[in-house]
Amino acid sequence: LWQMSTFLENQVEALRRRIGQERVVLGLSGGVDSSVTAALLDRAVGDRLTCIFVDHGLLREGEVEEVREAFAFLGDRLVVVDARERFLAGLEGVVDPEEKRRRIGNAFIRVFEEEARKLGPVRFLAQGTLYPDVIESGDPGQAGGPAPAASVIKSHHNVGGLPADMAMELVEPLRELFKDEVRELARELGLPQRLIGRHPFPGPGLAVRILGPVEPQSLQIVRRADAIVREELERAGLHDEVWQAFAVLTPLRTVGVMGDGRTYGYLVAVRAVTSVDGMTADWARLPHPVLERMASRITGEIAEVNRVVYDITSKPPGTIEWE
Ligand code: XMP
Repeated sequence: LWQMSTFLENQVEALRRRIGQERVVLGLSGGVDSSVTAALLDRAVGDRLTCIFVDHGLLREGEVEEVREAFAFLGDRLVVVDARERFLAGLEGVVDPEEKRRRIGNAFIRVFEEEARKLGPVRFLAQGTLYPDVIESGDPGQAGGPAPAASVIKSHHNVGGLPADMAMELVEPLRELFKDEVRELARELGLPQRLIGRHPFPGPGLAVRILGPVEPQSLQIVRRADAIVREELERAGLHDEVWQAFAVLTPLRTVGVMGDGRTYGYLVAVRAVTSVDGMTADWARLPHPVLERMASRITGEIAEVNRVVYDITSKPPGTIEWE
């Protein structure tokens, strides 16, 4: 579409003008938003861009390897930071969803700053923030930006909870776009379809898909359950039919039976939704055989889990994520 190619040209030009001869770091998550931001900046300022990928230990199975592979072309302009222990330590005992988001958001910025400092003077921090992130975080926005929401629904970690003393200036070229527009822009930029079609994944990662404290064991359970949900969706050829599909680990335990024995295991919820922009969503009418395979694999392959439920709540009144 001509509108998107115009947007692309204008943004590249605007980024060039704003960044000038300065340097910029970008937090790469492997998702569509930050990937498009990386590609835009790569066009605009080339080697004055450095991408930092933080492995916070809250990622999906295989994600670190995928990102390394997809962005290998960046060479030493891609820095992968192993911050798993730091994030886990920072989340110890935290149950409140907003507190999780706040701590993760703060740790992210700190890690960026530390890494950026190693690069020498860096003036700008780029982020792939979208319009819905801005509205739902109740972010006051920049002058002339979108109107603030009446109240904070969730502070998306890439908008809410930024430390007041942050040393870098924010660059958010996607701030006025919706997800479908970002995907269009991604095509315009020539990014691979596999990357463009990826489901959204929240910045705070699996931490907001564990109701209750984030611990090595709960992470391992939810990560495996998530991988099973995605594998079965893919196998059924339904990946592109839904906006998102994932598993949530609850602290609830229920009684079950295995062989002759009683079990007392955790409850996992499967969530799959359709949506255009993430602002509203409908629960996906997944075929029963697909749901059945997900449930039997999750209970069969994860010893701690003995029950699976399917979430049939739309947004509103639910949100897509459970926290
Ligand atoms: P909710 O749960 O608010 O989510 O209905 C709407 C969409 O946003 C994603 N999401 C996030 N994305 N940082 C992000 O970049 C976040 O903190 C965050 N929280 C939720 C969510 O996965 C869904 O696609």
